[in-house]
Amino acid sequence: MQVAPISFDRFNALRDAEAQERIRAARARLGKKAVLLVHHYQRADVYEHADLTGDSLRLSHLASQSDADYIVFCGVHFMAEVADILSKPHQISILPDLAAGCSMADMANLAKVERCWRELTEILGESPDNQFTPVTYINSAADLKAFCGDHGGIVCTSSNARTILDWSFAQRPKILFFPDQHLGRWTGHQMGIPLEEMVVWDPDLEYGGLTPEQIRGAKMLLWKGHCAVHQMFQPAHILRWRNAHPDGIVISHPESPFEVCRQSDHVGSTEHIIKTVKAAPSGTRWLVGTELNLVNRLAEEVKGDGKIVEFMSPTVCMCSTMQRIDPQHLAWTLENLADGNIVNRISVPDHEAKLAKLSLDRMLAVS
Ligand code: 13P
Ligand code: SF4
Repeated sequence: MQVAPISFDRFNALRDAEAQERIRAARARLGKKAVLLVHHYQRADVYEHADLTGDSLRLSHLASQSDADYIVFCGVHFMAEVADILSKPHQISILPDLAAGCSMADMANLAKVERCWRELTEILGESPDNQFTPVTYINSAADLKAFCGDHGGIVCTSSNARTILDWSFAQRPKILFFPDQHLGRWTGHQMGIPLEEMVVWDPDLEYGGLTPEQIRGAKMLLWKGHCAVHQMFQPAHILRWRNAHPDGIVISHPESPFEVCRQSDHVGSTEHIIKTVKAAPSGTRWLVGTELNLVNRLAEEVKGDGKIVEFMSPTVCMCSTMQRIDPQHLAWTLENLADGNIVNRISVPDHEAKLAKLSLDRMLAVS
């Protein structure tokens, strides 16, 4: 018998141990009807309930392959949107706390990207569709993915950015890359594009704060956006650590500032970081520049192999929005689902989902 939805107020004050117990009980009732997709940055007390874990690219694939009725996404808002877009019509994507956004994704919005496109048209004297491939990092709202779908563009993640930029340059001679300037710059640099041909587009200034010559001369326009978590890592952290551990190895996520990436021995997505450290010989020591939950988990996992993993920043850098998905919200979501009540559904409007899928499918086809 279906009962009325339970309000979150009744879960807010649950002690962690009780919340964990209720998660397990609700999962047992749901069986295969629900799948829990969990990003690597998720806190340990939620991560332990994962059916499947991964970086953004892997989770996108998994969302498109799952058959469960409910895809419960323990990540951030844009990830649950991607799951909704790529999943089958009967499937429902759920985000246990709707406040789990991505501050970087919020640094670009459709109004500002459309204004950018209009201003480019003015400067170029023709539609940018003839010159620029718009590329959005997967950390962006669905309407920006739809914009890319509509303008011959594509989505990228931190693990396939190089392949996606190759594809994009094969379509048109220039790229407008949003919202993460660091991922764009690092990937362009890896492809041999000179730094002066990658200019920053400031969406709060007219014409991005650029002269017509700068726009015409640019190979890539990099949206002025960043991740507040990765922005905390500094070259000085690496230098200090290398002085203390000359044989140590440094690995960073490409959302980190350019100089941090340049001074790292390896740069790659969360999945790449985990695989690289796990595959490394015993006795190696690592400095890792990405979110703290991942680094702590990795340090524990490889400790037994005689490897030491340390966090790059002296200050705590967590993805505070992803942290919002706590055992209380997960227990509340799953109990409601087990009672037949759908809460916190993420549903992208049809017209937007269709165009966004176009740009996601282009990505999945080439990655
Ligand atoms: P990954 O694609 O490496 O999982 O990165 C996603 C993200 O949001 C990193 O901040
Ligand atoms: Fe967004 Fe940064 Fe959190 Fe990744 S770590 S989800 S980019 S805020």
